[in-house]
Amino acid sequence: MGAAYALHVRVLVIGSGAREHALVLAASHDPAVTALGCAPGNAGTASVSETLGVDLADPAAIAELAVSWKADLVVIGPEVPLVAGAADAVRAAGVPCFGPGAEAARIEGSKSFAKEVMAAAGVPTARSEVVDNPAHLDAALARFGPTWVVKDDGLAAGKGVVVTDDLERARKHALMLLDGGHPVVLESFLDGPEASLFCLVDGRTVVPLLPAQDFKRVGDGDAGPNTGGMGAYAPLPWAPADLVDEVVATVVQPVVDELARRGTPFTGLLYAGLALTSSGPQVIEFNCRFGDPETQVVLALLRSPLARLLHATATGTLAEQPPLEWADGAAVTVVVAADGYPGKPRTGDVIAGSEAEGVLHAGTRRREDGAVVSSGGRVLSVVGVGPDLAAAREQAYERVGRVHLAGSHHRSDIAARAARGELSVSAR
Ligand code: AMP
Ligand code: GLY
Repeated sequence: MGAAYALHVRVLVIGSGAREHALVLAASHDPAVTALGCAPGNAGTASVSETLGVDLADPAAIAELAVSWKADLVVIGPEVPLVAGAADAVRAAGVPCFGPGAEAARIEGSKSFAKEVMAAAGVPTARSEVVDNPAHLDAALARFGPTWVVKDDGLAAGKGVVVTDDLERARKHALMLLDGGHPVVLESFLDGPEASLFCLVDGRTVVPLLPAQDFKRVGDGDAGPNTGGMGAYAPLPWAPADLVDEVVATVVQPVVDELARRGTPFTGLLYAGLALTSSGPQVIEFNCRFGDPETQVVLALLRSPLARLLHATATGTLAEQPPLEWADGAAVTVVVAADGYPGKPRTGDVIAGSEAEGVLHAGTRRREDGAVVSSGGRVLSVVGVGPDLAAAREQAYERVGRVHLAGSHHRSDIAARAARGELSVSAR
């Protein structure tokens, strides 16, 4: 271990959500970290790291900040800068970067690209068709459903997808996207519980983290529209024991190998969003970065030093790292959202209790008078841990009960069915 701890790094995290708060918090516990910055950050990241300004949509500005701040490692949280080429710009400036270049980030940025890579790599996923001409829509819809799955081909912050048994609703959503100039992806419906598996990938080597589950719909019982994510838990007590090995072997490694073969290797976090169907895990989507809110629960259980792992990922040395260490037990996070979310959120409300343990910040900022106020749709991500899911849930909800934000809403059923043992994967 001695030699391994010679690493000293200044770490710059890019982003401003609860995912980034979880990343800087975990990095702050890593003895290898000598300085920690977060840009643009939020009121929560500011309590554990230096807050810096940057335009997330400007790769050159991110690279300039990395150089001027003398970062030894840049960790890019959100998909928007990655798809825009921020990791390429940072690497071109000579700074190691955790995050894929623009080419590999297309695995998230374009659903049709992801489908094409999966086909080339032989990865199981829903059957799909791209429609870019409204005149072809009805014939295409007839080849799917019921249930219809209609997606925006590009980035849509989790809100571009409609899953419905109502053909007219599917048709209207598709026409709305096409009218806006967005190609539409139609998919066959995948049945079975969903799981998210995050993998560190250094171009070749794949290191899986704990599997997690998130809750995308806004309301209890999965009612209402899709959101960026309203809560999550890890690990998955109901999942088959070989789930992670199977997903790495049948999904993640083949995609990593295919991207490397194309000369656009993936570096960073490859997120496989899966449906655990009766015929095995099938890919719903890939993301090219840590998921939010799953990161908040996965990192709550990680015992290995995070910055060292991210640095090893960025520098192609994952294979030399010791096996990951995890806390026993479980973690649950509940997202506290602003009034109006996932529509236009109300902002500027004072939040009470936001500095308590387990409270990660997303859309928050500190006002000049020192008060922490809401500044986005997902405002807080409150984390609880415990020896099992029931205990972690209890702690998370007890902590949610101590924060106050006028008009806020949260789901009351995060991890409830899993804690009651109601989830299972159909036998094959
Ligand atoms: P996505 O933005 O692709 O992650 O889709 C958002 C959510 O829609 C997913 O988490 C699923 O709950 C649901 N979904 C997407 N694609 C499918 C599919 N082919 N079958 C069933 N559900 C889906
Ligand atoms: N939790 C879903 C996402 O990060 O896209």
